[in-house]
Amino acid sequence: MIPDSVREEILERVNIVELISQYVDLKRSGRNHMGLCPFHHEKTPSFSVSEDKGLFHCFGCGASGNSIGFIMKIHNFDFVEAVEFLGEKYGIEVKKEEIKGKKEFLSINEYIIKEAKKALFSSANKFAMEYLLKRNFNTDTIDEFDIGYVPSHFDISYLLKNFSLGELYDSGNFYKKEGRLFFRFAGRLIIPIKNESGKVIAFSGRSLDGSMPKYVNSPESKFFKKRETLYNLNLAKKYIKENKFSFIVEGFFDAIRLYSEGYKNVVSPMGTSFTKEQTAILKRFSDEGVIIFDGDNAGLNATFRAVDNCIASNFFPNVVFLPKGEDPDTFVSKNPENFKKLLQKKQDILIFLFTQMYKNSENNLQKKQNIKTLFGKVQKIQDPFSKNYYEEQLTKIFNIDKEILYAEFNSQKTYEKKRKATDISYLCEEFFLVALLNLPEDIADSLLVDINENMFLNERNKNIFKKIVEILNNDGNIVALFNDTDYGEAISNMTAKFVDIKDYYKVALVNKYKIVDNFLDQERRKLINFLSAKNLSPSQSMETLKKIQDILNRQKEISVRLSEV
Ligand code: UTP
Ligand code: MN
Repeated sequence: MIPDSVREEILERVNIVELISQYVDLKRSGRNHMGLCPFHHEKTPSFSVSEDKGLFHCFGCGASGNSIGFIMKIHNFDFVEAVEFLGEKYGIEVKKEEIKGKKEFLSINEYIIKEAKKALFSSANKFAMEYLLKRNFNTDTIDEFDIGYVPSHFDISYLLKNFSLGELYDSGNFYKKEGRLFFRFAGRLIIPIKNESGKVIAFSGRSLDGSMPKYVNSPESKFFKKRETLYNLNLAKKYIKENKFSFIVEGFFDAIRLYSEGYKNVVSPMGTSFTKEQTAILKRFSDEGVIIFDGDNAGLNATFRAVDNCIASNFFPNVVFLPKGEDPDTFVSKNPENFKKLLQKKQDILIFLFTQMYKNSENNLQKKQNIKTLFGKVQKIQDPFSKNYYEEQLTKIFNIDKEILYAEFNSQKTYEKKRKATDISYLCEEFFLVALLNLPEDIADSLLVDINENMFLNERNKNIFKKIVEILNNDGNIVALFNDTDYGEAISNMTAKFVDIKDYYKVALVNKYKIVDNFLDQERRKLINFLSAKNLSPSQSMETLKKIQDILNRQKEISVRLSEV
């Protein structure tokens, strides 16, 4: 049982808005925060979070509760798991011995693990252990991953005595045939599949005699949703945070191998190509990843299959490819040094795809088709920074002018939108100026850091900004500007345009970041153009690349800050 005091401490310490923001994009609306409900599909926000009350409520589907309830619902955790999860996250001690309330579903699994481990380590089933040792897994690893062996005549009398047939059937470990229950994994090695908090939610059984299928998995259940499960996440999550990236491999033993060789930040989507749900889970720990593709997949096809999902999740991992015939398990176990070398060849998934498809274009027509396909993919990228970056890279790799690209493949639409976007960039300048003019001088003054007149794209706006700075520097009164001979009229018109502004400070801050960001966009574009000039020396190229990277880093920072305003 969880003592009430622990429950209370968690509810008190956890800021529900901060917690839910890690899963849902929340915007303040009066006293509450609103966002799109994570528990049902919707296009307009009806999910509300109250910081004062510590509660969430969805007006669409009726879901509601406190922060513990939210974690239970979003991760399919039971109460104890949710409390442990929050305890770990917020550094609140949840004493283990105080937790006794286990679900029957889990005790069935726990019994099975215990028996299967016993069987694996017993001499009667030596061949099963020998199989693992021959594959170069040591007993510590086997023990840590709770791998076991289920004899073909697995004795289920204990289970029959202690659980009803319904419970046994619901646990997913049995199948019914001619009215009788059969154990699903009999005669196989079993690998427990655990949820994020380490509870066993399913098993996979590997055949040892070559019988098909190679792996038999528990069926989907309330507890086991394959799309939302990443094998080894329970152990890896800490290391993903620490290393700031994850390794993504195809199979169970690939994950186990990498983990035991010290690459502990490894997870596996278990044979399926990465789902959106899995990416979303990984992104909670880090935005970066390295997908290791087996050597038997033609690299291009594997990447092709993965890339749409990555784009949909705004996740842009690096990729590496193993030599033909290898998987991470066999490759690392043969020679860990070679794996280290291979990792140095990692490449951004989209850049890899662009480069390969460019190389594979045998003639102009193919080149055109390929760039069209890729351009279509890039257009689906939601985050404008990434989209812009990959657009630039695509034009660079295919050596094509951006305007031509838009004109050819997007019937002008997107390009015109871009043009308009430039007008919008003037708009953010106007917003910023109007907000400055309406704020007290000392606050307006505090908003002048990190921005300067050269960042304004519009000449008139730049001059107005210069005048404001001049007045503030001389402790003058900004209101005087409304009577300025050159710009007084423009300022009055602008102010009239934005009478609806409620929070001038917030508007000033947001639009300041937008101005800086637009400016950085422009600088970056210049550098990228410079980069494609013919006669650059290697050191010039390097220096330019570094500058581009610096700008990208600054822009990333800005987008973080913008999201915090
Ligand atoms: P692989 O066929 O590449 O197997 O499937 P593997 O991981 O190399 O297995 P070992 O090393 O021979 O033991 C990759 C992953 O796909 C899932 C499993 O998660 C497997 O690890 N899979 C594969 C299944 O779920 N069922 C299958 O029948 C085969
Ligand atoms: Mn393998």
